[in-house]
Amino acid sequence: MTERSNFGSKLGVVLASAGSAVGLGNVWRFPTEVGNNGGAAFILIYLLCVLAVGVPVMMSEFLIGRHTNANTITAFSKLAPGKWWRIEGVAGVFVAFLILSYYTIISGWTLYYLVQSLKGALLTDQDYSVYFNSFVSEPFTPLLYAIIFMVMTHLVIARGVQSGIERFSKIMMPMLLLIIGILVVCSFGMPGAGTGLRFLLKPDFSKVTASVVLSAMGQAFFSLSLAMGCLCTYASYFTPDTKLVKTAVSVCSIDTFVAVLSGFIIFPAVFSVPNVSPDEGPGLVFVTLPNVFNIAFHSIPVLGYIFSGLFYMLLLLAALTSAMSLHESVTAYVIESWGIPRKKASAMVSASCMTLGVLCSLSFGVLSDFTICGLTIFGLFDFCASKIIMPAGGLIICLFVGWYLDRKLVYNELTNCDTVPFRLFRFYIFLVRYVVPIAIGLIFINELLG
Ligand code: PHE
Repeated sequence: MTERSNFGSKLGVVLASAGSAVGLGNVWRFPTEVGNNGGAAFILIYLLCVLAVGVPVMMSEFLIGRHTNANTITAFSKLAPGKWWRIEGVAGVFVAFLILSYYTIISGWTLYYLVQSLKGALLTDQDYSVYFNSFVSEPFTPLLYAIIFMVMTHLVIARGVQSGIERFSKIMMPMLLLIIGILVVCSFGMPGAGTGLRFLLKPDFSKVTASVVLSAMGQAFFSLSLAMGCLCTYASYFTPDTKLVKTAVSVCSIDTFVAVLSGFIIFPAVFSVPNVSPDEGPGLVFVTLPNVFNIAFHSIPVLGYIFSGLFYMLLLLAALTSAMSLHESVTAYVIESWGIPRKKASAMVSASCMTLGVLCSLSFGVLSDFTICGLTIFGLFDFCASKIIMPAGGLIICLFVGWYLDRKLVYNELTNCDTVPFRLFRFYIFLVRYVVPIAIGLIFINELLG
């Protein structure tokens, strides 16, 4: 049996878990969803989803991981020996592997944009959608940047839990929060800030439809890193005195705070230039923002360098801490179940993920005509991971904790054997038994039908 490490401090626990949650989902996907779904009303619904679904599912993952002290697959096998619940562990590790392969590609793009912004290439008059499309469809450059990103992730994971994940999270997360603070202040100073803020703060409930509610829930799942074995794996490194409820609430709060602040950075900037619309979709940070940087900072390019450089740095740091957790979810399994030492196990995971990543990257270029069920390889991976395996995983975790696990075990984990009060325990059980499964069931049906 391999010796298992733990996180060395409470701060390390919160920052590593928040690092997993805060990622491209906050800085890139959240503002895109807000833009597409009508602004403030979406934000309010999102907050409700985080409270009613995100926090209880995260607590459930934490208690499974901490109780079993094992990777996600072994965790389910230990709690339900010989039962089919193990499938959830397998699905979690598999989906983490799948997501890491394409998350690395998009993260590679952010690294490329960081380099380009420092070279000043994002401050020139040009069509940024052509710029973006010609970059992503190239066979080699995006791959090169993705490989560099994977090597960075690999180097952290190969060092282990305390001197890798915890140490780097403690450096990167404060940097990330500092950059966000600077960017919010800069963005508020832009000429169109008022309009952007109104878009973010004035709810227009006429825009709210069932599909907006479901998008908010899907976004909450992705953004909080739920149902992918990541937080369950991290929780297996928590110590017996880690307070699970408090940690889940802190991580959800930090994640939501960063998502909303990213909106405060992007929308005032977007509304400060004419003819740029907030509902540009996924191109928001790679096409719309370079356009904004170029127009807004035309007369003071130095500020443009600083603003765009810091923005892509933020995106990169956020992506890196999330990729670390995806990598660790798979690596922990390879180490513990296959008995392979950490350095070799992490190298195997990096290399195989990158191999799949090559296909994802090429699906924006030479392989763009190769489709399965009308989806490119990248689209297929994303569809399977975020639209099928992830909601199904969340559903299974709640059913497992709410209906299968011994109530006493759940209570003891969440209260550290009755030493930490948790007055809402019954309400939590009600949420995981009924509310969350029904809510996720609805997303699931909607995604499949839609
Ligand atoms: N939560 C991360 C984000 O917001 C993505 C992620 C999903 C990371 C699942 C780990 C596991 O980008």
